[in-house]
Amino acid sequence: MYSHEGERILDGSSGLFCCAAGHSRPEIAEAVYAQLKEAAYVPPFQLSQPLAFELARRVSQMTPAGLDHIFFVNSGSESVDTAMKIAYAYHYSRGEGQRQRFVSRERAYHGVNMAGVSLSGMIKNRQAFGPGIPGVVHMRHTWLPENRFVRGQPDTGIELADDLERVAMNYGPDTIAACIVEPIAGSTGVLVPPKGYLERLREICDVHGILLIFDEVICGFGRLGAPFGAQAFGVTPDVMTMAKALTNAAQPMGAVAVSDKVHSTILEAAPEGAVEFFHGYTYSAHPAACAAGLATMDLFEKEDLVARADALSPYFLDQVFALSDLEIITDIRGYGLFAGIDISPEGGPGVRGLDFQKRLYRNGLHIKMTGDAGLLAPPLIAEPKHVDRMCEILRQTLLEY
Ligand SMILES: Cc1ncc(COP(=O)(O)O)c(C=O)c1O
Repeated sequence: MYSHEGERILDGSSGLFCCAAGHSRPEIAEAVYAQLKEAAYVPPFQLSQPLAFELARRVSQMTPAGLDHIFFVNSGSESVDTAMKIAYAYHYSRGEGQRQRFVSRERAYHGVNMAGVSLSGMIKNRQAFGPGIPGVVHMRHTWLPENRFVRGQPDTGIELADDLERVAMNYGPDTIAACIVEPIAGSTGVLVPPKGYLERLREICDVHGILLIFDEVICGFGRLGAPFGAQAFGVTPDVMTMAKALTNAAQPMGAVAVSDKVHSTILEAAPEGAVEFFHGYTYSAHPAACAAGLATMDLFEKEDLVARADALSPYFLDQVFALSDLEIITDIRGYGLFAGIDISPEGGPGVRGLDFQKRLYRNGLHIKMTGDAGLLAPPLIAEPKHVDRMCEILRQTLLEY
């Protein structure tokens, strides 16, 4: 990227984890322009346009088998609202409308709409905005002090998943609609799930008829060296949210993938010829966003971006974990092309984090900071030399303190 003063900035966070194929790809820009000239808008209610079907097909080639039904929205936050409504509608359709509770997690980030804020486990994202949607219960987050500086999935902590069982026993399993988690909690610092944790959540959901929703808004599209977090960790949810890299962030777009079971339950419960699911946005499956999405899928295929991320991951993690010798760093976590570094706070939570971010920028590196956690997520087209440069600037800037 270039700053407003023309300085070159290396992007260590893919914008906000969204420019997987790098910035301003002409292939995407041209596809959007061509589409806008052809048909700039088509109503997505009752009607649609070919690109929407084609993009759904392409996305479903990346989602796990059986999660092949795609609903388009305009952002990650909308995908979370939509997933929640799908979960309500699914249970309502099968005569279990009493399932209205949602289980999420401390330190979760699910966007900024009311659904996401209610599910969120970040105090500042909730505090000023009322009580939120009733019926949300939070499990503990998965960061454990004994797992500091563990690369990949920690060996300990699987028992944290039993929080879901405790919630089920406390409120009644048949009152719970869904459990929603990010495969790796991204925004609050890249909290990699302990080994067996997601599998255990899946088992508990199956026992109690609870839907499992993965919020893949960051983890999806290759970030973890697999198409989605679901494949990276070998656990298939019932519903998956996505956004960001879906269009390489060239157009706003999100989507929700649902299983055959969820899809057919909702569709079959609706009267013949009636609307099955009363939900959608004016800009759902917008032609320009679909064009950007299709051009992005082409880039993923042509440039083998998922495999590329997987291949670069060991080098990336080696270099990031090599920063552990710096005393100011209190923890590093990482998986795929995604890593979180915690720096020791000073002057209150996040004060040093913000200062660090500004210094990095001046030294030629953009990364997203959340409080005192730095989130490293280079574009999937990054090369070892970019990783080296990123880590050099991180080290040099941390040594300024
Ligand atoms: C896991 C997760 N869910 C939802 C969102 C919200 O996405 P958006 O900002 O596109 O609304 C984000 C954004 O970072 C996210 O990380």
